[in-house]
This record gives sequence, structure tokens and C-alpha cells, in this order.
Amino acid sequence: DPTKSEVQGLDNLSPALKTALQDLEAKFTVDRQKLKQISQRFEEELREGLQKDGCNIPMNVTWTLGFPSGDEAGEFLAVDLGGTNLRVCWIVLKGREEEKVVTQKKYKLPAEIKTGEAEALWRLIVDSLEDFIATNELPRDDGEPLALGFTFSYPAHQDYVDHGVLQTWTKGFDIKGVEGEDAASQLTEAMKKRNLPVRLVALINDTTGAMIASAYNDPETIIGAIFGTGCNAAYMDHVGSIPKLHTDLPDATPMAINCEYGAFDNAHRVLPLTKYDEAIDRESPRPGEQSFEKMSAGLYLGELFRHILCEMYDKGLVFKGQDVKKLQEPYALDTGFLSSLEDDPFREARGRFEDYLNISITWEELQLAQRLAEIIAVRGARLCTCGVSAICRMKGIESGHVAADGSVANKHPKFKARWAQAMGEVLDWPSDRKEDPIIITSAEDGSGIGAAVISAMTLQRVKQGNM
Ligand code: GLC
Repeated sequence: DPTKSEVQGLDNLSPALKTALQDLEAKFTVDRQKLKQISQRFEEELREGLQKDGCNIPMNVTWTLGFPSGDEAGEFLAVDLGGTNLRVCWIVLKGREEEKVVTQKKYKLPAEIKTGEAEALWRLIVDSLEDFIATNELPRDDGEPLALGFTFSYPAHQDYVDHGVLQTWTKGFDIKGVEGEDAASQLTEAMKKRNLPVRLVALINDTTGAMIASAYNDPETIIGAIFGTGCNAAYMDHVGSIPKLHTDLPDATPMAINCEYGAFDNAHRVLPLTKYDEAIDRESPRPGEQSFEKMSAGLYLGELFRHILCEMYDKGLVFKGQDVKKLQEPYALDTGFLSSLEDDPFREARGRFEDYLNISITWEELQLAQRLAEIIAVRGARLCTCGVSAICRMKGIESGHVAADGSVANKHPKFKARWAQAMGEVLDWPSDRKEDPIIITSAEDGSGIGAAVISAMTLQRVKQGNM
């Protein structure tokens, strides 16, 4: 069992710590059989979401109708509201063969905005757009407004491509006045009030963006997946396989689906929740939602680690006599902390505990902390294969590239290898295979380039009169 083989080197720990750690290992281990069980249930929920509205996994229709040809061209603005940053980009596309030009700037997304009022959010976005347009003296020679792709990485119900009614905030956001409303028209209104020379062409999800931006360069792309602050994926289906969709488009029309599968198993039928997962859920702004995401996404990995260390401190097992005020602050540790901790030499890891937490850590505690970081990250990476494997089985996809983006996929040095290992287990790939049939690749910038390519595809369709 590959999860077990990573469990070793406990010999130097005191018996009490060893017992505590073994107990945690048992609770956090997701073996092959469990993975398969989760993936099977996952497939059922994905299928349900295509049948009718209001299911647990919403399987949102995106009106991105097919993969790009690679000829898409033009100049586009893109705004990316992810979960951590606000980013504005100017993108010049000249077709697959030519170099893309990308100018971008990140703007601060202050914590107060994430739990404030809608008006403050739109003001911040419009301010940022205005600043960006002015600093870059963006071209407007023809008097036409600039075409904007808006990456809004939250579950949104779309009746057309420049529309998106927010179903629920995720990733710790809790802004009043947007849920149940059309985020695209709220942004459009805010831009109008300030006379910004901008026209919103498409509202997209980061997963759809990752898939389309990657397919623009790599036609083997089958799925766009985010393993970052949140956890979600998009794939290409076709109209005839989406019974809940009522449209005049022919059945064979390809249609990108944003699964929003962070919500998988909100009913808690198969996920192996620990009491730490339950605590994170309870303390979140939306308890009972995004169950799968809360066990696997970057926003929560550091928080799991923190919860466990706090409990160990309370039991007198670690950090005796130290000031743990910092450690007791919710979300004090990000995924970056965990990723670097796993492999760092003692001196660096020790420094990190001092810098982040004001705690001076012993050699024994450090070994414990490193194992803990590993246990949490391994569980996350393994769970992350359940959604992608379920999509592949549902659609009969046997090979191709999963274009992955997000802080966990990109910054955790072992994520991709662990994910690939678990994919093989869940899909029963032969152990003597020469190469994996489904490969995780690094996505192109979906929220920038993806938004631009989707905007270009939309404008092309408008021009041809096929909206
Ligand atoms: C959350 C959002 C989803 C997004 C994902 C990754 O799950 O609901 O829209 O794709 O995070 O950012």
C-alpha cells in the first residue's frame, strides 16, 4: 500500500507522540478501495447534476461551446476574481502559432472585502480596471469598448455566456448582495456608472478557463482542474447528454461543463471525515457546503494542520510552556507553509516555525510536524483523483491531459506525483505500464488567457450570427 510506505521514521518519537501520530495516520489514510468507493459515488453525483437543476453537484452549463480552433485572435481585457487575488490582464492573441502578449497587474483583495458588501467589491474591481487601463494607455482608436472576459471562480448558473447568477459563495467568501444575483450585470452596472470604456463579453470559471487556455496550445487537453484555494474541474460534454438543458442547439453541440464538484458528498455518505474536518466546516461561513473542497483544497490544508497541532498542545504533547497565541489564530498557516515544511532541513523548518508562529520547535516536534504535513497533503492529493477519475469514467475518456492550475498543483512539490499514483490505483492502470494514459499537466493561465480565448470564441460566434 503506497500510503503506508510513506509512513515511516517514527522511531525517534516519544511513545505518546508516536501513538498520537499513528492514530492520525489511520484516520487520514484513504486506501485504494476507499478511493474507488468515493470515485463511484462521485460519478453518480456528476450524473445526477446533468439530469436536473438543484442537485448537490450543480454541473453548471457554461456556454463555452467547444474547444478553440487555435486561430482565435484579438485584444482582450481580463479580470480574475479568484479567492486570493484580484488580477487585471491585457492579452493579445494572434493564433496558436504566435506568441501571446500578456500584461498584468495584481491588486490587493483586502480581507474586509471578502465578507463585506457587494458595492465595495464592484468598486474595487472598477477602480482596478480604471487604474490598469490608464497606466497601460490601452488602445481605443476605433472608439469601440474594450472586450472583457470576467473570471468569476464561484458557482454560477448561466443562461448565456455573459451572465452568471451566483449560487453560493465558496472559499470563505461571504459578500452580501451577490448570491442569487447576476454577477455579470452587477459588474456591468458598476462599469457603466463610471463610464469605463469596457464591455463584458463572457463570464467564465477558472476551471473552464484552464481547460480552454490549455487546449488552445495542447489539443490533447480533456479537463481543466484547479487544485488551489478551491478544488474543482471542467470538461467538455455535448448538449444531448445534458437532459436538464432546454435549448435549440443540436444535440451534438459541444458544451463545457463547470462541475463545481467541491460540493461533492455534502450529505456525508462516503467521505472519511475526521473531527478536524468537521471543525473546519463548523467554523466556516457556509457550514454543510463544499465538503469535498474542505478536505482537499489549499485553503484548508494549513488549517487542518493547525487544528491538529492545537489539539496536541492542549493535551500537553507539544510546545510545552510556549506562547501559542499565533497558532491559535484561524487560518494562520497557508499551503505554502505546509509544502515547504515536508522536505525542509531542520534549520529552515525551525526558522519557519519561529517566523510564522513564534514557536521554537524541538527536533522531535519537527519530525512530528513534517509527518503531519505529509499525511494531510497525501490525503488531499489522493482525494483529488476521485473527481477527475469520475469524469473520465462517466465520459469514457481513457487518455489525455488534465490541465491543472492552483497553488497546490503548482507549489506543492509532491502533489502531481501523488495524484498520478492514486489515479493509477483508482482507474486500475497496469503496474507495468510504460506511461500513464491520463497525465496531469500545468495549465496555461486560464483566468487570463482562457478568459481571452473564450471571449474571442464568443465574438466569433456573434459575428457568424450563431449565439
Ligand atoms: C471553488 C469555486 C469554483 C472554483 C474553485 C477553484 O470550488 O466554487 O468555482 O473553480 O473554487 O478556484
